[in-house]
Amino acid sequence: MQRFQNKVAFVTGAASGIGLATAQHFAREGARVFACDMNDALLREEMAKIAAQGHSVTARVLDVTDNAACQAAVAEAVDVYGQLDILCNIAGISLFSHFIEMKLSAWDKVIAVNLTSVAVLCQAALPHLLKSQGNIVNVASTAALVGLPYNAAYCASKAGVLMLTKSLAVDFAEHGVRVNAVCPGGVNTPLAQNVTLPENTNLQVLGRAFPLLPMMADPSEIAVSIAYLASAEARYVTGSHLVIDGGQTAI
Ligand code: NAI
Repeated sequence: MQRFQNKVAFVTGAASGIGLATAQHFAREGARVFACDMNDALLREEMAKIAAQGHSVTARVLDVTDNAACQAAVAEAVDVYGQLDILCNIAGISLFSHFIEMKLSAWDKVIAVNLTSVAVLCQAALPHLLKSQGNIVNVASTAALVGLPYNAAYCASKAGVLMLTKSLAVDFAEHGVRVNAVCPGGVNTPLAQNVTLPENTNLQVLGRAFPLLPMMADPSEIAVSIAYLASAEARYVTGSHLVIDGGQTAI
C-alpha cells in the first residue's frame, strides 16, 4: 500500500520503539517523514537506514520539552517539505514510584514530556494541518483509561493526552482536521523493558497492568494502527481512541 504518497508526516520519538516503527511504516507507504527525537545519535542511525532504502526522511534532534524548539521544528518541516499533513506525537517517558515519595520535579518532567509537548506541537502544527486538511494521531496509553499501579504522573499525563485529543477533535472537525489517539497496553520497547519498580510493590495490584494475551505487542502493531488513523481510510474517524492492549482493559 502507498497511502501516504505526497504526504508529509512529522513524528516525535522516532529513534526508538513505537515512534521508530511509525516512521518506518509511513516511509514504506510513501510519506516524506520529518523524524524528531532527543536521542540524536540513535535517530540519525535509524533514519539513515530508512533513507538507504530510498525513502525521504529528515532526522531532526528535538527535546519536546523545549517549546520554542518544537515550534521551530514544525516550521522547519514545512520549510523542508513545503507542507505538513500528519502529526504523530509519540515521544514519551514513564515513571514508576510510590506517589508519596514522588518528587514534584519528576511529576513536572512526565507532564512536560508526555502532555505539554503534545499541546505545543498540536498548536504549532494546526495552521499547517488546516491548509492541508491533515490530521493528528497522539499516542496515549491504557494508562489514560484505567489507573495503573505506581504510575500517577504517567496516568495523569496520558489521560490528559486523551482528552486533549478529543477536545481538539471537537474544535477542528468542522474545519476538516481529524484528531485521534491510540491507547496501547504493553508494547515490547525499551520503555517497557526498562521499568524499575519501587520497593514493596503489591504484585496482585501490579497484575492489573498485564494483558490477557500472553505476550506484549510488537511496536509495528501499534504503527499500523497509527497509520490507519492517519490515512484516508479513517476519513470518518475523529475524536476516537483505538485500544490495542491484548485485553488488558477488558477485565
Ligand atoms: P521508547 O523508549 O522505545 O521510545 C520513546 C522515544 O521517545 C525515545 O526514542 C526517546 O529518546 C524519546 N524521548 C523521550 N523523551 C523525549 C524528549 N524530551 N524529547 C524528544 N524525544 C524524547 O518507548 P515507546 O514504548 O516506543 O514509547 C512511545 C510512546 O508510547 C510513549 O508516549 C509511551 O508512553 C507510549 N506507550 C508505550 C507503551 C509500552 O508498553 N511501550 C504502552 C502505552 C503507551
